[in-house]
Amino acid sequence: MNVLGIDIGGSGIKGAPVDTEAGTLLGERFRIPTPSPSEPAPVAEVVRQIVDHFSWTGPVGVTFPGVVADGVTRTAANVDRAWIGLDARKLFTEATGREVVVLNDADAAGVAEARFGTGRGRKGLILMLTFGTGIGSALIMDGVLVPNTEFGHLEIDGHEAEHRASDHAREKHDLSWDKWAHRVQEYLEHVEMLLSPSLIVIGGGVSKKPERFLPHIHLPNTPVVTAALQNNAGIIGAALAAVPPVGAGVRA
Ligand code: BGC
Repeated sequence: MNVLGIDIGGSGIKGAPVDTEAGTLLGERFRIPTPSPSEPAPVAEVVRQIVDHFSWTGPVGVTFPGVVADGVTRTAANVDRAWIGLDARKLFTEATGREVVVLNDADAAGVAEARFGTGRGRKGLILMLTFGTGIGSALIMDGVLVPNTEFGHLEIDGHEAEHRASDHAREKHDLSWDKWAHRVQEYLEHVEMLLSPSLIVIGGGVSKKPERFLPHIHLPNTPVVTAALQNNAGIIGAALAAVPPVGAGVRA
């Protein structure tokens, strides 16, 4: 079925119609910069503009860069704090006049990768980690998502992992790729020790440049690969989540 997927990120809000059986975009992505400050009303207005751009009348899935439980956004580490405790599903549904489903951005990306990307046909525990403004995580066991895992906030040596090892941290602290890769390696060793996944998939913007950091990453027991769907994973996963009956689509 065709569903409009919209991915809310720290710098841009991107949308495209998705063929949810094939896991592919049906047209060009449309991107609008994330409003600053990223308060609910201007963000909902951008979501409406994306729906209007595609003259979309069908179901819509939207990702959010924080914990989302039952349509309510519970945390906002990298967006305006006004999102905390807000009924985002209601906000977007009213803004667009469409049925909207909302889920965590990394969960969306993880489900899409598990079904159509590097995890395709693979059993066991897949851990997706997205490196962008923050670090997002998704845990998928035999195709079933465990939502809202938030492993980007694990503390290592007294520091939150995403403050040291996100792509934003790399830019902010002007780290060389080697130095940043070293921090990512430390972080991955820690999550490998805690979770023993069968595969770790690295997503976010950095997945387009694997040669810069992947040669420095080695885990004793877990293959580490970059996302096959790259930056489209969030859009595709958002669309999967909105396939009726809602919730069924987040099985990989
Ligand atoms: C948020 C997560 C989100 C990740 C990536 C973190 O700061 O807590 O919910 O998935 O950033 O956007």
